[in-house]
Amino acid sequence: MNMRQRVGLKFKDEIAFLKGWKRDRTSVGAIAPTSAVTARKMASVVDPSSGRPVLELGPGTGVITKAILARGVAPHNVTSIEYSPEFCRHLRGLFPSVDVRCGDAFALDLTLGDKRGTKFDCVISAIPLLHLPTARRLTLALDLLERVPVGRPVVQITYGPLSPVVALPAGYEVRHLAFMIRNIPPAQLWIYRKIPS
Ligand SMILES: C[S@@+](CC[C@H](N)C(=O)[O-])C[C@H]1O[C@@H](n2cnc3c(N)ncnc32)[C@H](O)[C@@H]1O
Repeated sequence: MNMRQRVGLKFKDEIAFLKGWKRDRTSVGAIAPTSAVTARKMASVVDPSSGRPVLELGPGTGVITKAILARGVAPHNVTSIEYSPEFCRHLRGLFPSVDVRCGDAFALDLTLGDKRGTKFDCVISAIPLLHLPTARRLTLALDLLERVPVGRPVVQITYGPLSPVVALPAGYEVRHLAFMIRNIPPAQLWIYRKIPS
């Protein structure tokens, strides 16, 4: 792919993102796609040697999906849950072999369907949480942690100074992964996991 085509693709992503943002600011939650450097940092937690699929929440334009694939995960081993039908169409065009599921991350059993019992290697989440009640965020984090093996991470991006899930029950941990200044707006990355006993 030459430079012109690459710039064209990036521009298309920005347009897709801005259209989604104009329509629904709360569920899109950011003002620009995640930067490539942030996406790579989030995907750095993936263990491609586990052989397990990766669960991605809120892929939007697909920047993080691309970074997950770049870690060496086979496209059919990436399950991406996206709420917006337009982003879903966009993602299916970009990644025809990724398992893009158009649905709600808060109704995962329903959205995952045949994959609802799957243990994933990890979860990479870009869905906005800060506008939701804290109890709802906690319920989601605990649901996600049931879908990965003990010790494996759920990674969440956020634009506030604190983790959207401030604390988890005993036996779980909330850990800061990184502050990403090269992101619009600058972002914090958090990891949730069940501590091995
Ligand atoms: C901050 S944007 C993600 C940006 C993405 N990383 C990118 O660079 O394009 C959040 C995404 O999560 C999606 N989303 C929000 N709530 C959701 C939910 N409950 N279930 C699934 N997707 C959701 C939005 O449609 C949006 O695409």
